[in-house]
Amino acid sequence: MPRHLIALGGAALLFGASTIALQAQMVEPTAVPPPPTFAAQGKITFVGRDDIEEFKALPAYHEPDWVTKNFVDTGKLPPVAERLPKEPLVFKTGDMPDGVGQYGGTLRHVIGGRPQGWNWIAGQVQGWGGVSYAMWECLTRTGPLFHVKADELEPLPNLARSWEWSDDGHQLTMHLIEGAKWSDGAPFNADDVMFFWEDNVLDPNVAPQGGATPEAFGEGTTLKKIDDYTVLWTFKDAFPKQYLYAMAFGSFCPGPAHIMKPQHPKYSDNTYDQYVNAFPPDMLNFPTMGAWVPVAYRPDDIIVTRRNPYYWKVDEQGNQLPYFDEVQYKLSTWADRDVQAVAGSGDWSNLEQAESYVEALKRSADPKAPARLEFGPRIIGYSLDFNMSDEGWGNPDERGEAVRELNRNLDFRKAVTYGLDRQRLGDSLVKGPFTAIYPGGIYIGTSFGDADSTVYYPHSVETAKAYLEKAGLKDTDGDGFVNYPADVMGGKNVEITLMANTDYATDHNLGEAVVAMMGEIGLRVIPDFADGNRWNNLWRGGEYDWTVRRGDKELITVVQQTYQLAPVGPLTSPWHKAGSSGKLDLLPFEQELVDIVNKFINSSDNAERAQLMKDYQKIFTTNVYEAGLTNYPGALIINKRIRNVSSGTPILAFQWAEDSAIRERMYVPEDLQQNYELYPQTLPGEPGGDGPVK
Ligand code: GLA
Ligand code: CA
Repeated sequence: MPRHLIALGGAALLFGASTIALQAQMVEPTAVPPPPTFAAQGKITFVGRDDIEEFKALPAYHEPDWVTKNFVDTGKLPPVAERLPKEPLVFKTGDMPDGVGQYGGTLRHVIGGRPQGWNWIAGQVQGWGGVSYAMWECLTRTGPLFHVKADELEPLPNLARSWEWSDDGHQLTMHLIEGAKWSDGAPFNADDVMFFWEDNVLDPNVAPQGGATPEAFGEGTTLKKIDDYTVLWTFKDAFPKQYLYAMAFGSFCPGPAHIMKPQHPKYSDNTYDQYVNAFPPDMLNFPTMGAWVPVAYRPDDIIVTRRNPYYWKVDEQGNQLPYFDEVQYKLSTWADRDVQAVAGSGDWSNLEQAESYVEALKRSADPKAPARLEFGPRIIGYSLDFNMSDEGWGNPDERGEAVRELNRNLDFRKAVTYGLDRQRLGDSLVKGPFTAIYPGGIYIGTSFGDADSTVYYPHSVETAKAYLEKAGLKDTDGDGFVNYPADVMGGKNVEITLMANTDYATDHNLGEAVVAMMGEIGLRVIPDFADGNRWNNLWRGGEYDWTVRRGDKELITVVQQTYQLAPVGPLTSPWHKAGSSGKLDLLPFEQELVDIVNKFINSSDNAERAQLMKDYQKIFTTNVYEAGLTNYPGALIINKRIRNVSSGTPILAFQWAEDSAIRERMYVPEDLQQNYELYPQTLPGEPGGDGPVK
């Protein structure tokens, strides 16, 4: 190897034959190869924003007969009309693929996550797979936007039933749904919204699970209560309509203040830890604004949820939703979710782990198969994330600090990306037209994705090695792995730990492949794989060097979770957060990305926004901000007996399918309902009680 590698694609002078020979092998960045054609199957029917829902009073309301008979007639519950808000949210029949539904039946989810507790507003996980989507209701809603016409795209009202901007665009008045109640009958109002904002989002000791931080709503943004049903936002910039997306899942979904506030350290003797853990998963009947309430929990077995008698949404005939009386979440594995959905013992899977595609496709092709399987566009993407924080986020030791210095070095990131054989990565998951080479950034083929603005560093072990050397790393002790320079870490081998979430076979497999490929370029990477909850804690806390990570909504839509695209605030970026000082030390290209994202947020000019995202993609991929790994389509699998599933529902777009598909209006025709209910004819009991009541 040459001593000084100074000619990486540049015009510098070269010394010595070996340098020239090496330069001949150097590979230049290129355009990303076109992906194999893969046609989405489901045809989306696009509708106007107002075709989906409205808020209005109806002449009469209905509920399942057994609720009236066993609860209302016996005086245990007020009549349904009194349990609903003045003007409930009404789902319009025209947007229901199979029309007004029938009550009863069970929706059987299988999930691979595990609940930490119900305190999502202070950071706890509920197990994913649709549990959170059922329990959290948010100011706005975006899942169903996948089938809203492009020129009408704006979040749907939800807990905020309407809003107006001031003339100068700096103030946004939001009107909350009036007279709605939590599932235990306590009123929902602006106090719930303010408790979420003031004591959870703004409190630096609390980190809500959905990623809400003050900057997710713009620097300097304030929120005030005007009256019980009105709140006022004030923004530094004019008309930042983008933030309406941040008010949807998962960043503005209040919890029940009447139950939670008394446990918050500001109003009690609790520590923050005690507050976080005050609502464990075996606390039953935790009040929610969602359609179903958890009434039973058995660790590693099941979470059972029953209909919320105070749910505030109805169909056009006045039937209180949801149609399903019970929703179950079997606590298994994500791979088992695919197996059970295909076999018919579960009702739903977001097919997202490429390893099971061939088998799932084969089994679903049988006309007698119990479930429908529908592929969508390439929206599952995986990347290798570098922890870019040198501000003490996650409290790294000397070794960790040294790795972060490397992570912040472009030559080093180039070495890594050149070392990845993305063709082989994709093929190792599944053969066929599914996977595409993914350099990183916004997914190509989505509305803001752009192949021409994407810079791709093709696989080249030689080039990767040359860049390691350029970054100052050489194998000085001849064991096959590069070492630090003598003055860093005592000149020891570079050792990098790689996290991957072992709840998913795909994350695990990609992790192993990355370790092996890095070995091929002489970089020692040590797996530190973790189960989902541990992975989530370490990742959110910045306690990692590198991680394999499945991409999220911002890479598909740009408008959802926009704040995650660049470190626009000290805590908004998934891989570059501030430490305790609260200050960020951004690299120049990161600052450029931040400026672009902020411009995007404040622009309403579509052409300008498209160009900004092209610039973003160019800077992102040139600088290997993440190293993309692979990109492939997902498929929604839903049991054929279930109705009102819109064709073309993507497993992930603005939200995961559990939100997009609007479960509260899904149903099973009476004659197809089976005896799956575990707690028939029961409703949630009092918060913290023994479970459901008859
Ligand atoms: C997990 C699953 C996804 C989806 C989401 C919903 O992340 O992998 O398919 O179900 O939960 O939050
Ligand atoms: Ca070595």
